[in-house]
Amino acid sequence: MSDAGHGGGVESIDPETARHWDALYAEKERQWSGRPNARLVEEVTGLPPGSALDLGCGEGGDAIWLARQGWRVTAVDVSATALDRSAAEADRAGVTDRIEFHRHDLTRTFPPGEFDLVSAQFLQSRLEFPREEVLRAAARAVAPGGRLVIVEHGEVPPQARQAHPDLVFPTPEETLAVLDLAPGEWVTERVDAPRRETTGPDGQPFTLVDHRVVVRRVRTG
Ligand SMILES: C[S@@+](CC[C@H](N)C(=O)[O-])C[C@H]1O[C@@H](n2cnc3c(N)ncnc32)[C@H](O)[C@@H]1O
Repeated sequence: MSDAGHGGGVESIDPETARHWDALYAEKERQWSGRPNARLVEEVTGLPPGSALDLGCGEGGDAIWLARQGWRVTAVDVSATALDRSAAEADRAGVTDRIEFHRHDLTRTFPPGEFDLVSAQFLQSRLEFPREEVLRAAARAVAPGGRLVIVEHGEVPPQARQAHPDLVFPTPEETLAVLDLAPGEWVTERVDAPRRETTGPDGQPFTLVDHRVVVRRVRTG
């Protein structure tokens, strides 16, 4: 995927961030399952389709699922490899007319516009990442009547616990607080930590906790 006309342009991408994520994607032909994230599916099923922004879209599982449900999707990521894979997958799925992929380093540029759905699924990084600023920008991008759906890891998967024994993630309540939402403009729909059955790299089953925050903008200030 070319950078030209895709978001901020290559000068707006931090090379170290891009290298880190491209290297992760280069490890395997496919890094994620290709399925949409279960928590997003739970939140979005039944909503009337509109415009959606997928922040850190990875290999496009969510964006393609949303497009299949009739949403017009803007999907962004810092990794050119991830975006190339997403675009190829969208092509195979026959939904390229409903998805635009743009390369953004969200620490430097943010997609313009307002969206009926803004989704941040596991937009978490081991690199320096101004998470709170990015999440507040995500809230600002929600159109009146629209929703922001944030899902993050609530705990480290078993296979990574040895490498990161002390890693603690923000609670959903802390995440809601950092959004700093204007009172009267937002309704909080969910702040919870549901458990999810999943499988590890060797197929072993385990349970993971997700941290989820869903807020709906009822009006602009
Ligand atoms: C853990 S993956 C999650 C991918 C996808 N949302 C999913 O749930 O399968 C995090 C994604 O965020 C992207 N990302 C990390 N830092 C970013 C940044 N500064 N700007 C834009 N995307 C970023 C990575 O390239 C990666 O695709």
